[in-house]
Amino acid sequence: MSQDCDCECKSPVDVIIDRWNADPDFVIEMFQDIQDGYRCIPADALNRVAERTGKPRGVLFHIITFYKAFSLEQRGEKEIQICTGTACYVKGAPDVLAAFERELKIRSGETTPDRHFTLSEVRCVGACGLAPVVVVGEDVIGGVTPSMVAGIVKKYSKEG
Ligand code: FES
Repeated sequence: MSQDCDCECKSPVDVIIDRWNADPDFVIEMFQDIQDGYRCIPADALNRVAERTGKPRGVLFHIITFYKAFSLEQRGEKEIQICTGTACYVKGAPDVLAAFERELKIRSGETTPDRHFTLSEVRCVGACGLAPVVVVGEDVIGGVTPSMVAGIVKKYSKEG
């Protein structure tokens, strides 16, 4: 990690902390930016945010583990989120999730060994009319059936 200075040797984490003026009221925003950049919250980054904002490390750790948006382990390049909210659940989300688990050979919450995909569950993404819904990155895919899963994985795979 770099020291406090205005030269170009600043670490990306310091640049993010500066963006929020090292204000302890904006640690969640800092973590969002760090998560976007690193696809996780590295331990060094957590320590640096604690050091520069004055927030206790334990409080920051609690924040990171409380919010599903944050991860201490690096997530895949593409996050596949299966909506398991009520509307999606009754329209077959559990079968869709099981099909993704089989296709990717990982369980919900895990990342593929090549760090390309992370599979997770979300509660209602506000598109219940399209249930069951899967979100891949910024794309919302509606009416997903288990038979569509292999095609979706192929589309978003590295070669896809
Ligand atoms: S329950 Fe899945 S989008 Fe609302």
